[in-house]
This record gives sequence, structure tokens and C-alpha cells, in this order.
Amino acid sequence: MKRAAIIGTGAIAAAHAAALRDRADLVAVVDVDDDRVRAFAEKWGSPHVYSSVSALLEAETVDVVHLCTPPQYHAPMALECLAADVTVLVEKPPALSLAEMDALVEAERGSAGHVATVFQHRFGPAAIRLRRMTAAGQLGRPLMATCSTLWYRDDAYFAVPWRGSWDSEGGGPTMGHGIHQFDLLLSILGPWQEIRALAARQARDVHTEDVSLALVSFTSGAVAAVVNSVVSPRETSTLRFDYQHATVEVEHLYGYTDADWSVTPAPGHEDILPLWQKEQSDVTSGHRCQVEAFYDAVDGGEPPPVSLADARNTMEFIAALYASAFTGAPVRRGNIGPGNPFYTTMEGIGAPWR
Ligand SMILES: NC(=O)c1ccc[n+]([C@@H]2O[C@H](COP(=O)([O-])OP(=O)(O)OC[C@H]3O[C@@H](n4cnc5c(N)ncnc54)[C@H](O)[C@@H]3O)[C@@H](O)[C@H]2O)c1
Repeated sequence: MKRAAIIGTGAIAAAHAAALRDRADLVAVVDVDDDRVRAFAEKWGSPHVYSSVSALLEAETVDVVHLCTPPQYHAPMALECLAADVTVLVEKPPALSLAEMDALVEAERGSAGHVATVFQHRFGPAAIRLRRMTAAGQLGRPLMATCSTLWYRDDAYFAVPWRGSWDSEGGGPTMGHGIHQFDLLLSILGPWQEIRALAARQARDVHTEDVSLALVSFTSGAVAAVVNSVVSPRETSTLRFDYQHATVEVEHLYGYTDADWSVTPAPGHEDILPLWQKEQSDVTSGHRCQVEAFYDAVDGGEPPPVSLADARNTMEFIAALYASAFTGAPVRRGNIGPGNPFYTTMEGIGAPWR
């Protein structure tokens, strides 16, 4: 079994501890909050606690670090781990900017370790099936899609100091909430090409947006509408794909099973339904699915998913969304490189409500 550590023992860390239990030994946990890290170590049976990444790496030999701190620490801590040849599974978002993503890509080239990002909804059985059926052309060409993350986060949620700011969370619901849904969309529809977007701060006392809306074109010719919100009292997460031969859709909140998906064949394509239904599963698209895939790769000596290249694609989509929203112009893939204000921070030239 690989030797693992968890850094940041707050809310999401328990999902990692539960998911890695059968795949790795949790040899240490790290947090700046002494009481919290000790309670977590006791609950999950970790023999060692530390208050910093450097103390962990100095004292322990670990193969894998699960990085569950607030977003502003992700890239610097992942860089420390890569320098020690340790592989990282980092919570989303993996970094605050494309500049940080490129620093990670560069550091990974010189390390025996890798960096994988948590996008757990890519790993549910239905998403895997849909990617496979799309690639095999069984649904025909993807024509259009809609992707909504309509969640509700109240003022108390944003009272946590790292939330709602460009410097620590890196963005609003685009960066922190809708990222799961449109990352899944991108993993199915392939390379995106151009974005036209709007962002607004409607109701929350935050620096970032609390709502964003984007129209996206893909190199395949498909088009999509993406909406992200944290001000929507009836919460839902939805994806709908209209292919030539079928509509495929999912509605869930924080994780789906096959029961949350439906397939509606176009007339004359009813044979798609048994193809979809023959593999039904009741597995939920939670951390466990991705952590399994992660350790399968690590144990096999392969780079684990979701790779930095794939995560960078999603982060570039976010940077382009903000750039389009704040400049009022369409933004194409590849437009945001070094020298562009949206390369070093997602806020770029500044939100209009600043
Ligand atoms: N994949 C998902 O579905 C999902 C869900 C929730 C949160 N997240 C992500 O997980 C990350 C953490 O979110 P959370 O809700 O668990 O936050 P949290 O605030 O509950 O926990 C963060 C923990 O990190 C600790 N910490 C802060 N600075 C540290 C440092 N320098 N060194 C060590 N520990 C430090 C804090 O003390 C805290 O215990 C965020 O990036 C968030 O976006 C992902």
C-alpha cells in the first residue's frame, strides 16, 4: 500500500480519508489548526500530525499527498510536494491562475511525482459510459448542450475568510462551484473554441461574481450554454446533451447515480436505449470513484487522472469566461497567455463592480 498524507483537515478532508482507506496507509495529517488536526488524526487512525507541509516532508516518507486546504495554498503546496518527488491529489481548483497552472506543469516535468485534480463527477459510471459512447459515435454528433450549477450559499457561508475573494478562492461560483459541472461537460464534448460571457454580483457581499453565464462553441461544432450561480434557492445541478440521435441528461445536486440520468432516443434510434441501460450501476459520483482511479494509476506507475493538461483546459475555460465577461468581447482558446491580465489572476482587469 502507498503511504499517504492529508493536508488540510477541514470539511472535504473526511471524503478523502474515507475514500483512500482501502488503497493507502494514512501515515500523517497536517493542519495549522492544532485541535482540528488532532481530532481528525484520532478519528481516521493517522499516527502522526504536523502543522506544515515542510515539516511533513522533512519527517516522513510519503508517496501521495491529498491536498485539501483552501485554494490559495494549492499551487505552492503542490510545488513543494513535486520538489520532493511526491504525487499530489489536489482539491479543485488546482490553482488560482493559468500562471500557477503553468508553474505546476513545468515542475511536474522535473519531478517523479504528478499532480492530479479532484473532479469527481468525471468518474461516475454514467459519465464514463457517455464519454465512451460519444467517442464511438454511437449517439451521433453532439449538437448542443446546457450545463447549470444553480446552488444557494447564504451570507454565513461567505463569512469563512477564504471564501468570496479573488486572492484566496480565486473566483466565485465559476471557479468554486460550477467548475465540477462544466469540467464534466468539457470532458465529454472535447476542445472548446470560443466563449462569450456575462458575470454579475447580484446578492452576496463578496469580491467575486455570484452568478456567471457563458455561451461556448467547440471545435467539434457543438455549442453550449453554461450557467453558474450561488443565489438560487431551488438548487440543482443539470447537464443536457442533444446529440443527433439522442438527448442525454442528468439532474442531481452534489453527486449522481445512474438513476439520475435519462436518455431519450430520436425517432429511429431506439436501439440506443438498451445500449445505455445494459450497464446500470448504483454507484454515486463521489470522491471514492476518483480516488479508486487515482490509486489504480499510481499503483500501476501511470500518471493519475485528472492530469494537469486536462485541469489546465478547464482553468483556461474559466480564465476565458472571466476575460469575456469583464472585457465584453468573445475570447478564444489560446488567447490568454503571459502578458494578458487574466493570465496571472482570474480577476484580470478587474470586475466591473469593484
Ligand atoms: N470536490 C468537492 O466536491 C469539494 C467540496 C468541498 C470543498 N472542496 C474544495 O476543498 C478545499 C477545502 O475546502 P473545505 O470546505 O474543506 O475547507 P475548510 O475551510 O473546511 O478546510 C480547510 C482546512 O485547511 C486548513 N488550512 C488552512 N491553511 C492551511 C495551511 N497553510 N496548512 C495546513 N492546513 C491549512 C484549515 O485550518 C482547515 O482545517 C477547497 O479547495 C474547496 O474548493 C471540494
